[in-house]
Amino acid sequence: MLYSEFGMRYFGHSENYWVDFIMRLKDMRSRTTGVGSEIGVTVMELGNGKRRKPNILVTGTPGTGKTTVCTALAEVTQLRHINVGELVKEKNLHDGWDDELDCYVINEDLVCDELEDAMEEGGNIVDYHGCDFFPERWFDCVVVLQTNNTILYDRLSRRGYKDSKLSNNIECEIFQVLLEEAKESYSEDKVMPMKSDDIDDINRNVATLTDWVRNWPLPSQS
Ligand SMILES: Nc1ncnc2c1ncn2[C@@H]1O[C@H](COP(=O)(O)OP(=O)(O)OP(=O)(O)O)[C@@H](O)[C@H]1O
Ligand SMILES: [Mg+2]
Repeated sequence: MLYSEFGMRYFGHSENYWVDFIMRLKDMRSRTTGVGSEIGVTVMELGNGKRRKPNILVTGTPGTGKTTVCTALAEVTQLRHINVGELVKEKNLHDGWDDELDCYVINEDLVCDELEDAMEEGGNIVDYHGCDFFPERWFDCVVVLQTNNTILYDRLSRRGYKDSKLSNNIECEIFQVLLEEAKESYSEDKVMPMKSDDIDDINRNVATLTDWVRNWPLPSQS
């Protein structure tokens, strides 16, 4: 199946959207030549001559496969995988437990302070089910994983989520909350929605992102 066909089927985007998306990926690949595509220029400016490696944010509703993709991508690219949920627990970057939502109340300021140096250095893959509180300048690429509702329901049920948590997360996916949040928080040319229903999707997403990382220019080359 063509990328544009599955895009239409799963995301409701037109073929033109996907042609444009693929063109953008090609632009990213060709920007090491220094021929200033809009995206290439944006990335260079964001890198600001400081970051030698890109920062990627992988976001999406819980259960869409962020940690799975980030782990594989970090392994292949040797970038640093930062699982924000784990970091919050390890370093107590929260304001206690929310019984109703059944999760920690993340302290966004503490998280941003904790991550600032690493993000300035570059070379990070940040894994979190939210994206609107990170500084926009941190990321060169924002991946939003999306999963079919029935598949996601099964994954989250297997985790033993209680009913309210399960339905909150499924609603979040149905209404594409994370995609909207990403588009509102980052320039649209950085936001990459990616389907994450099956193993083939994992392989394709990791391959696409690996390619993107490998072609990200060092400041000295740009
Ligand atoms: N594309 C996929 N195809 C099949 N199974 C997948 C896929 N992505 C993830 N999974 C499986 O779904 C489950 C949830 O994946 P994962 O823990 O990576 O999600 P997550 O987005 O990191 O969730 P959370 O936000 O709760 O940390 C795991 O059992 C994983 O193996
Ligand atoms: Mg995870």
